Amino acid sequence: MSAPVIILGIESSCDDTSASVVIDGVKVSNVTANQSVHEEFGGVVPELASRAHQQNIVPTVMEALKQANVKSENLTAIGYTRGPGLLGSLLVGSSFAKGFALSLDIPLIEVNHMQAHILAHFISEKDGSSNIPQFPFLCLTVSGGHTQIVEVTNHFDMKLLGQTKDDAAGEAFDKVAKIMGLGYPGGPIVDKLASKGNPHAFEFPRSKMQGLNYSFSGLKTAVLYFLQKNVAENPNFVEENKQDICASVQYTIIETLLGKVKRAVKETKINRIAVAGGVSANSGLRNSLTSLAKNKGWKVYIPKMEYTTDNGAMIAIAAHLKYLKGDYSKVGNAPLARLSVENDLGWKS
Ligand code: KG4
Ligand code: ZN
Repeated sequence: MSAPVIILGIESSCDDTSASVVIDGVKVSNVTANQSVHEEFGGVVPELASRAHQQNIVPTVMEALKQANVKSENLTAIGYTRGPGLLGSLLVGSSFAKGFALSLDIPLIEVNHMQAHILAHFISEKDGSSNIPQFPFLCLTVSGGHTQIVEVTNHFDMKLLGQTKDDAAGEAFDKVAKIMGLGYPGGPIVDKLASKGNPHAFEFPRSKMQGLNYSFSGLKTAVLYFLQKNVAENPNFVEENKQDICASVQYTIIETLLGKVKRAVKETKINRIAVAGGVSANSGLRNSLTSLAKNKGWKVYIPKMEYTTDNGAMIAIAAHLKYLKGDYSKVGNAPLARLSVENDLGWKS
């Protein structure tokens, strides 16, 4: 029997420091340190994120190794997020990964964060369970920074079919929550309130973008004007209607997202659909996609909650798949703030 492939994955692209150990494609640990320092600002403050990563990176990696019961000298390779993301945040994870890999004299593997969100579907669990998609499939990646429909032909063969031209879906959730004074990050708060509200209580405009592209910045403005008008008549309007407002906004976002997915299925004739990214934690989106798929006869892949928002396991599985094809990277490669989902990085880049 050949030796197991033991990968440490490190994620630090935004405001979560996360590390995970994956052995032969099976997740054995996944540890995340969230940053509460951004709450009072209603959004991520890049310089504060970078400083918090510096504080969190060593204890997070050590905890991931401990929970996996793996000693650093037994690691096969280290994977890290090269981009896209906040440069100051990426620098912390990439510098740590490079130093650690050099000191252990093991391969360093760079990972595209957007590909990793999708590849999280290839993680297996210790109990033997998994729900690995069959190629080709479409993935709706919905996060705080991105909204994309991607055609996935192979692990690292991805084609961008459409994307947002302005705000991302997660940003729409966060900005609406901020306007309503609900806190940060807004997505999970809106989700919770929406579950008790009427999605048809209020109607908000849906953007009409060409092809498979999205636009969400108009929704935030529409909600702002709608609230200003109603609060002028009733100062308690938000407090009295927050569940219905959240349900109606969430409904609009979900309908917009799924409208383009239906179109993508029609155009590509691919009816295996995965969803990924922080917004794929949204219960309304998960339920709507599941029932739509049932109706249409699609096969649908909904990630475990643990793999929706940023996590080290998605980086570790992507690095595992790259390790199997010998796709290592140079230690001199600098982090990339911007990076297309189609770029699989590696030694050549
Ligand atoms: O993938 P992610 O962790 O980070 C990025 O790469 O951006 O996504 C974070 C986004 C935030 O905008 C957050 O509000 C949103 O995902 N989010 C949700 C939910 N949980 C997280 N949005 C809607 N409903 C949720 N339950
Ligand atoms: Zn992400």
